[in-house]
Amino acid sequence: MRRRDFAKSAFLGAAALALTVPPASRAQSSDGSNQNVLFSEDDPGHWGAQVAAKHVPQVTLNAGTVSIRTPHPQSAAHYIVSHTVVLAGGKFMSRTTFSYKDAPVSEHKLPDGYTGPVTVTSTCNRHDIWTKTVTA
Ligand SMILES: [Fe+2]
Repeated sequence: MRRRDFAKSAFLGAAALALTVPPASRAQSSDGSNQNVLFSEDDPGHWGAQVAAKHVPQVTLNAGTVSIRTPHPQSAAHYIVSHTVVLAGGKFMSRTTFSYKDAPVSEHKLPDGYTGPVTVTSTCNRHDIWTKTVTA
């Protein structure tokens, strides 16, 4: 398997895990198999709180729009790659990708009348995938 294919597969596997396993289940994994796969403010794993402060997506909801900002500096060597929004039941809603030249800021329109969980991921090219869930 080529390195690029492997990296793509690893990312998709982690993203699928993030979208299909409820946060409470991940946190309660008895064998620790999900430790250090996905990260959040409450579970920064091996990265710790200092890394978490720059990677946990900041999410606001206003009039059916999800606004996401990751407080992470952007450089060619180290940057936020994407934001993803997933709704209840693991329903994928949208994704925004970034280059190192972009500010890691995105907006996503919720379906009309949607209420329920909105899970956001923010992916760093060096510090993995960070999640935050808010309720619409
Ligand atoms: Fe990072």
